[in-house]
Amino acid sequence: MHLPVLQKEVIKYLAPQKNENFIDATFGEGGHALPILKRIKPKGRLLGIEIDPQLYEEIREKLKEDNEQIFERLILVNDSYVNLPRIIERYQFRPIAGILFDLGISLWHIEKSRRGFSFKRDEPLDMRFNAQINKLTAFEIVNYWPKEKIEKILKDFGEEKFARKIAENIAKRREVEPIRTTFDLIEVIEKSTPLPVKRKLKIHPATKTFQALRIAVNRELSNLEEALNFLPKILDKGTRIVIISFHSLEERIVKRKFLEAKSKGLLEILTKKPVVASKEEIKINPSARSAKLRAGKIL
Ligand SMILES: C[S@@+](CC[C@H](N)C(=O)[O-])C[C@H]1O[C@@H](n2cnc3c(N)ncnc32)[C@H](O)[C@@H]1O
Repeated sequence: MHLPVLQKEVIKYLAPQKNENFIDATFGEGGHALPILKRIKPKGRLLGIEIDPQLYEEIREKLKEDNEQIFERLILVNDSYVNLPRIIERYQFRPIAGILFDLGISLWHIEKSRRGFSFKRDEPLDMRFNAQINKLTAFEIVNYWPKEKIEKILKDFGEEKFARKIAENIAKRREVEPIRTTFDLIEVIEKSTPLPVKRKLKIHPATKTFQALRIAVNRELSNLEEALNFLPKILDKGTRIVIISFHSLEERIVKRKFLEAKSKGLLEILTKKPVVASKEEIKINPSARSAKLRAGKIL
């Protein structure tokens, strides 16, 4: 079963009450949304946004099978959260008590999407959440971009130490044959990482390159930045915002944007330091290891 990360803390900071309305901007498999829906009974509604059309369809079907009545209070939309201002207007979804962003990918992407998100499976290098919204694929970056540009995204979006070497080896390999699948790419990355480093690494040597490609393909950082720019403008006073990030690049954006909004008198920051998962949670759910939660309240 899919385990939502930092669930207790999400509930603490969103503090959902009877008949309040909430937005889950990254619905995924509904791990956070469903407990919120329970707490806002009998009339509170939840607007869930999920960018991935296939995951959206699957989760919609599953929820329907489990309990069709849920859709009396759940509005599930297949779109990007960057379109929230329009979505809120279209569904006249107000007043809004709180909004949640649980960033990144779902377990579903790694295990079921077959789009190359996992380095444990040999799959085509796609990595798009939504092929309508994002035209660029990981295949295109790896096989057609100049090596300098590849090096730059590996550095900027992956903080990969061996970015230059990996980019050079990608360029060499694709002269011989295209880098078609995750395993083709992993072979190149393995070759580019010195053995003593590989031995010491706690993560798979391809982790950072995969993260960088995914972020570039889905424009994850600019989407987050855009949302944090418009949120204080579209949300009413008192609305709670909770954001869970999974790597330092996202985390830095959230921190900076929260401080910016605070200095303009638009936001009260509810978490002095980011909230992290307990040892117990990490033991049960290793993906909670890198999760950091920040919360604020619109002023
Ligand atoms: C970490 S998962 C959320 C998991 C969810 N909270 C749960 O417990 O099931 C992040 C989800 O956000 C979706 N997502 C990523 N970017 C998005 C965007 N710009 N707009 C809407 N959804 C997005 C991903 O497809 C993924 O399913």
